[in-house]
Amino acid sequence: MKKLTYFIAFLSLTAFFLSSFTNKESKGYEDRAYFQDLTNGKLQYERHCLMCHKQNGEGVAKSFPPLAKSDYLNADSDRAIRIVLYGLYEPIVVNGKPYENYMIPHKDLSDKDIADILTYVYESWGNNKTKITVDMVKKQRTKK
Ligand code: HEC
Repeated sequence: MKKLTYFIAFLSLTAFFLSSFTNKESKGYEDRAYFQDLTNGKLQYERHCLMCHKQNGEGVAKSFPPLAKSDYLNADSDRAIRIVLYGLYEPIVVNGKPYENYMIPHKDLSDKDIADILTYVYESWGNNKTKITVDMVKKQRTKK
């Protein structure tokens, strides 16, 4: 009888170790996927946004608003998705400074690339780390 108790204890310990191991594995997988999204986001940012919003999202005074620590960006992620999709042509105020310029639309980019770009932007330069998913982009794309 004693043997059986030991055996059961041994089994449950093994199960415990195994389950904590698989949990770690799937977390590792999530981290890896997130890292890949960010890597693609950075690459696509450099291709499509950097020319105006600059290397560290600092923008250009009076012409291109900053994406770094941008109160406008952090206030509304769905609006940010729509701006990337459809561009923007109206006076706005970002971090206390007015801009009245024109941003081109990027609706030819895939939902995945837009999600990755914005996830990268939100993750960088003091922004609020909102994770933008493909579904969030899809939702805004079908709105217009
Ligand atoms: C040709 C220059 C140009 C490119 C390329 C460009 N933008 Fe913009 N962006 C602007 C301008 C100009 C505004 C402000 C428009 C206005 O005044 O109505 C703006 C505004 C924004 C805003 C809202 C204001 C803020 O600073 O938070 C976001 C977010 C944004 N852009 C993100 C992006 C992202 C992401 C990309 C790349 C997919 C991108 N932009 C590509 C010029 C550009």
